[in-house]
Amino acid sequence: MSTAPPAPAELPAEGTDGPAVLARMVANRHDDADWRNGRIFGLIFHPDDEELEELLADVSREYLAENALNPVRFPSLARMERETADMVAGLLHGTPGAGGLTSGGTESIFMSVLVARETARKKGIAEPVLVTAVTAHPAFAKACHLLDMRQIRVSVDEGYRLDVEAMRAAVGPDTAMVVASAPCYPYGVMDPVTEVAAIALEAGVLCHVDACLGGMMLPFWERLGEPVPPWDFRVEGVTSISADLHKYGYAFKGASVLLHRDVAQYRTQWWFDDGAWGGGLYGSPTAAGTRPAPPIAGAWAALRHLGEAGYVRQAAKVRDATRRLMAGVEAIDGLTITSTPDLCVFQFGSDVLDMDVVAEALADRGWFPNRQPGGLHLMVSPYHLKVADEFLVALAEAVEVARDGGTSDAAPAVYGAARPTGGSSS
Ligand SMILES: Cc1ncc(COP(=O)(O)O)c(C=O)c1O
Repeated sequence: MSTAPPAPAELPAEGTDGPAVLARMVANRHDDADWRNGRIFGLIFHPDDEELEELLADVSREYLAENALNPVRFPSLARMERETADMVAGLLHGTPGAGGLTSGGTESIFMSVLVARETARKKGIAEPVLVTAVTAHPAFAKACHLLDMRQIRVSVDEGYRLDVEAMRAAVGPDTAMVVASAPCYPYGVMDPVTEVAAIALEAGVLCHVDACLGGMMLPFWERLGEPVPPWDFRVEGVTSISADLHKYGYAFKGASVLLHRDVAQYRTQWWFDDGAWGGGLYGSPTAAGTRPAPPIAGAWAALRHLGEAGYVRQAAKVRDATRRLMAGVEAIDGLTITSTPDLCVFQFGSDVLDMDVVAEALADRGWFPNRQPGGLHLMVSPYHLKVADEFLVALAEAVEVARDGGTSDAAPAVYGAARPTGGSSS
């Protein structure tokens, strides 16, 4: 039986006092994912750090209204953006002053593709091409769509890593940039950055490393003594890197860093208008015009609050939780981990069980791993160390439901979705 769609919202004739608005807002959250108890494995990177959460709440209050569009009006924001980008550049062995913040991974990727297009056009390439693995994040396809570029997606090997020979064969005279993921989202494996960058060097094209997911984890993974294949600016030929602060940087949403190998390349990211429109000279390094202050200030605050030692401690928790989860999954008859992940993100599936049934039985128990076409996907946060065992008990039960022949009427897997959304706030 289908229910009638809710009436479209209308602006109320009269306003309502703040507490009542807030109460209604809170009531509207009844079907939101329970991230605080670690029940989801995507969208949120739960640091399990109450002091950090308080700090970020204070930061957003402090910078409630400021705008990073004009660095002259709020120089404190310009300084924090510079310092934040430079702190990350230091971690990634990059160049100070050669990058800045964006609103997230998708915008960092968009701007990196724009730089590639502009660089290629200067070389006389009329229709510049981007070459990525098939596992590259859809943000590259979106950027190509918006920037009217062609993307060639090359295959991956049996370990889900970019196939170097396929990339070499795909690179041609119109190639603007090649891309490697560190790691890719679906399988959590690193593409062979050294080989991809060597192809770029040989062809004289740019090489972007998408470390949106891994950029704020890999440096600390390395400090923990874990094996980390070369991926950052220490690799000759890597010309830009995206690294999200709103993922394993534990800042709140709206903060990513796009770093270039040198300042000259960073300048290509900037758009300048001459002022003929009547409003004055306009210069901007991002897709957005007005830029909210809290993500910039929050990213700066998170880096300062945690410091290197804090990030290493968080990385250790994530590593331990990942190990426990992987061992627990492998111990359940019928489940296999799809790849050998390099970090803390992985997919598991089954040749014998219907994973949609497993997902639904887990949902019935209040757990929401990400659903992918090949199985279930976990992106592990520090908090998950506390609940890994509980999740594994629920998973074992869910597998038994599937083994007993449960059925599913689940919709196709949706990226990052923990549960269906919809309805009205009334
Ligand atoms: C590897 C990778 N690249 C890019 C992105 C896009 O980041 P955002 O969702 O912040 O735009 C993601 C998001 O999960 C990602 O995992």
